[in-house]
Amino acid sequence: MSIVVTGATGQLGRLVIDQLLATTPAAGIAAVVRNKEKAAGIAARGVELRIADYGRPETLDGVFRAGDRVLLISGSEVGSRVGQHAAVIDAAKAAGVAQLAYTGILGGPDADFLLADEHKVTEQLILDSGLPYTFLRNGWYTENHTANLAPVLAHGAVVANAGDGGIASAARADYAAAAAAVLTGEGHLGKAYELSGDVAWSFAEFAAEVARASGKEIVHNDVPAAAHQEILVGAGLPTDFAAILVDVDEAVRRGRLAGTSGELARLIGRPTTPLADTVAEAVAAQR
Ligand SMILES: NC(=O)c1ccc[n+]([C@@H]2O[C@H](COP(=O)([O-])OP(=O)(O)OC[C@H]3O[C@@H](n4cnc5c(N)ncnc54)[C@H](OP(=O)(O)O)[C@@H]3O)[C@@H](O)[C@H]2O)c1
Repeated sequence: MSIVVTGATGQLGRLVIDQLLATTPAAGIAAVVRNKEKAAGIAARGVELRIADYGRPETLDGVFRAGDRVLLISGSEVGSRVGQHAAVIDAAKAAGVAQLAYTGILGGPDADFLLADEHKVTEQLILDSGLPYTFLRNGWYTENHTANLAPVLAHGAVVANAGDGGIASAARADYAAAAAAVLTGEGHLGKAYELSGDVAWSFAEFAAEVARASGKEIVHNDVPAAAHQEILVGAGLPTDFAAILVDVDEAVRRGRLAGTSGELARLIGRPTTPLADTVAEAVAAQR
């Protein structure tokens, strides 16, 4: 039996592997990756690599073993994920894994925005499979908003169509710690965790935080959805993806990502990383 992390070469997956290695011998951990070269650093730490692509079901044959505790990190190819996740679930079922944890989306079946659709179907597929599951319904990563600060600093503006809606984001590392906790701890089967940061912030507050950290004047421009869509497409985003982001902002406006249940802090045994810390780190990286 191993603890198995899929998507281990991604940003969240690497952090989960880090967290696991802090408490668990490397010999008990396996990483499912589609690119062996990209995973060289993980293998060098003694973690077993299992090579598979969610989109090529034949590669998933035998990738899991009976009794494995598996974290399925949702794929990044939006629009193709239901079939991909179904293939992983089938492989987990065939192997008889002891736990399938899945990184879904805050709100689970009640999330009413486009980006949630594939997560909702995936959760249902997992329920239908009869596998022992844990749903990690992740809220927003703060890094979604800090990873690309250059245009914000250059234009002195944070543009959104979310009004005063709040986002209870947390750092990726917080969500990774929660995933490691449910993979290594007991009592998490059959549970759905609504994971989010301890504090919700609005885009006006985000702009103020970037201003404080950078010493620059940064304003919050709240624009209509159609105008935001035009701005994002003008900046080079594909139309469909821009529409998904604009739809997320509308969900933020409705308060869909503002929930502060405290479940993430409880799972990781500490407060979630404050917005100010992640912003300060990102601003420092720009210097
Ligand atoms: N909560 C949020 O705010 C938020 C934000 C963005 C995304 N997400 C979701 O959370 C997931 C993890 O986030 P992240 O930041 O770690 O994303 P990421 O860095 O893009 O990592 C995605 C991981 O999934 C793997 N993957 C994608 N398609 C695959 C396939 N067909 N077969 C095998 N592996 C595949 C990638 O493999 P490679 O390393 O080979 O590319 C990568 O390891 C994302 O994939 C997405 O579903 C959540």
